[in-house]
Order: sequence, then C-alpha cells, then structure tokens
Amino acid sequence: MKIGQHHIESNLIVAPMAGVTDRPFRQLCKRLGAGLAVSEMVASSPALRGTAKSQRRIDHAGEVAPVVVQIAGADPDMMADAARYNVDRGAEIIDINMGCPAKKVCNLAAGSALLRDEALVASILDAVVNAVSVPVTLKIRTGWSRESRNAVRIARIAEQAGVAALSVHGRTRECAFVGEAEYDTIREVKSAVSIPVTANGDVDTPEKARDVLEHTGADAIMIGRAAQGRPWIFREVRHFLDHGTHLPPPEVQEVRGLILEHLADHHAFYGETVGVRTARKHLGWYAADLMGGDVFRHEMNRLDDAAAQIAAVGRFFDQLAALGDRLQYRPSAQAKVHSRSAFVAARASWVEEALAA
Ligand SMILES: Cc1cc2nc3c(=O)[nH]c(=O)nc-3n(C[C@H](O)[C@H](O)[C@H](O)COP(=O)(O)O)c2cc1C
Repeated sequence: MKIGQHHIESNLIVAPMAGVTDRPFRQLCKRLGAGLAVSEMVASSPALRGTAKSQRRIDHAGEVAPVVVQIAGADPDMMADAARYNVDRGAEIIDINMGCPAKKVCNLAAGSALLRDEALVASILDAVVNAVSVPVTLKIRTGWSRESRNAVRIARIAEQAGVAALSVHGRTRECAFVGEAEYDTIREVKSAVSIPVTANGDVDTPEKARDVLEHTGADAIMIGRAAQGRPWIFREVRHFLDHGTHLPPPEVQEVRGLILEHLADHHAFYGETVGVRTARKHLGWYAADLMGGDVFRHEMNRLDDAAAQIAAVGRFFDQLAALGDRLQYRPSAQAKVHSRSAFVAARASWVEEALAA
C-alpha cells in the first residue's frame, strides 16, 4: 500500500489507542509485522502541549519510519497548526482522528462528533492538508448514528481535500464499542473512493483479517484491541494471508525475551515510578490467556519497583517453560485463537479512562 510517497510493506496496521500505543508498543508491533503504527492521539490545543503526557506522545526517537502522529480537535486553524507542530517534530504522516467516541473528545465536538458536521469536516481537512507537505490520513467511524451513516460522503470529502488514505472503524459513534462491527459500509467506502482504505473493527484472528479484506476489498487491516498482549498477531496474520496456514504458537523463550525488552523500553520511556504502574496493564494482557496468568496478574498489581516486576516476569516464564517449549493458552482461550470476551466487553468508558490516564 502507498500512502503519499511512503510504500508500506505490510498492510497490517496498529490502531491508535490512547494509553496503549506509546512508542515502545508501536516499536514492538512494527518489529512483529505491523507495517504502520499510529501514535496515541495528540490534542491540537497549544495549551496542552507542555504536559508530560503530550511531550511523551511527540517523542519519536528511534521510531521505525514512517512516523504517524494522530491529531484531534475541531478548529481548522488549530488543527493545521498542530499538524505543522508535529511535522516539525518528526511526523512523516499526519492522521486526523474523527473516529474516537470518547466523551472527552466528543464534548469538544472533536473525534467522531465531527462526522455530524460535514462542512466542518471539509474545512478541517482542507486546512490540515494545505498546512503540511507530508501525507494526511483520516480515521473515521461509519457515521454519527445508525440512522446517519455518512461515511461514504465523508470519504468523498476527504478524497476531494487531498487526504492520502482513510481508515474506517465499522461502528457508528453511537455504537461506542457495543455490538459487532459491520463491514458493508466499509465496502461502500472502498468502492466510492480511489485512495487506500483500511478496514478496522473486531479483527482478532487471521481468518477474520482475511474475511474482512475479502468482504470489503480494503487495502489494509487495522488491529487494535486484539494486539494488546499479543503483538505477534501481526506476524500470525501476515503468515496466514501469505500462506494460508497458521504459525505455531510462539516459543516461550522468544516471548520472554520480547516482553522483557518491552518492559525495559517501557520503564526507560516513562521512568521507573510511572513506568512500573503503566506496564501493569500490558503485563496483564500478556498473561491473560496463558496458563497461570491470573496468579501472575494478581502478583503484578502488588509490585511497585522495576526490578521486582522484571523478576516476576522471569519467574512466570520459568513456569511456562516447564509446561513446554511453546506458549500454552488456557483451554478457554484456545477455543478462539484469541480470547475476545474481555476486549469485546470494553466500553467507551474504558476508552475515556485510557484517554484520561
Ligand atoms: C483503549 C483504546 C484507546 C483508543 N484510542 C484511540 C485514539 O486515541 N484515537 C483513535 O482514533 N481511536 C482510538 N481507539 C479506537 C481504536 O483505534 C479502534 O478504532 C477500535 O479499538 C476498533 O478496533 P479493534 O476492534 O481492532 O480494537 C481506541 C480504542 C481503545 C480500545
């Protein structure tokens, strides 16, 4: 897939997830087969630029190109300024968030709330595309509500404005994270525009990725929640799409190494105090589907220094290694390649919590 001048090797993309897709996690996903990783959303307001959170979100040191920064806001001039600000700090693609249902974003009439106001959408896209020389991409939902699925009109507006690629989450704003994503609207969007379209929503297995690609005709697949605790899903999906067969579960020793590297990178990125706390959710996700994962997660929440966290991961993997060379998922998780229940149960409130973190 091409986004502007960037040739994207793999058409599997990590979805932007506030509180999750920080630089260490994006790097890990890219290493494991993701062709593109979108940053956590950065607010467009200059007043918020000085916060520690904003500063971390614009730190792209060492990141594998192309660096994609997502911006959110509702004021065309402010969005244009935010785009320039981020390009000056290393962004090679600017992604605009019109897909996030979080109240914190929607109350400001930003995120998916913008889909209601097509004229404003056009003004924002024109302003941002004209402000920067790098490609601008857009992330949307299928519409504001089930009665108002205007993704096709928004997609045409975007193409007209010079947006280089679109990603579409197959839910409306009103749907939050409830129910199943639908892919018919994504297929309509794909056939209405000639810019690349990425399909997003509930892709959690290699088969689902294949089916959604086939059904929508999309150029790429974006995976969010299913990559939490399973960044090797990109490698698994890639292999399945290329060869039609499944990779075996990863080797315990490889995953131990990946997680310890992720942890070290995470601690270094956030500093020990914040890093140990924010690493817990990643470690919880890693362990969620694995034998003995519950006990490990419990222990993890009581530890508050980096060395103890690292040692606990080592002990957990010693136990897993005693069970076999390859990762063994819990029987309930084996039924589906990835246990969906916890993720599907996620509600917009959870997204809001993540955004506020
Ligand atoms: C914790 C969390 C944070 C999110 N943050 C953002 C965000 O900052 N920007 C955005 O466009 N979408 C955000 N999303 C939506 C995801 O990018 C994606 O569209 C959604 O999770 C559906 O994909 P999935 O079913 O593969 O998870 C977030 C989702 C989650 C679960």
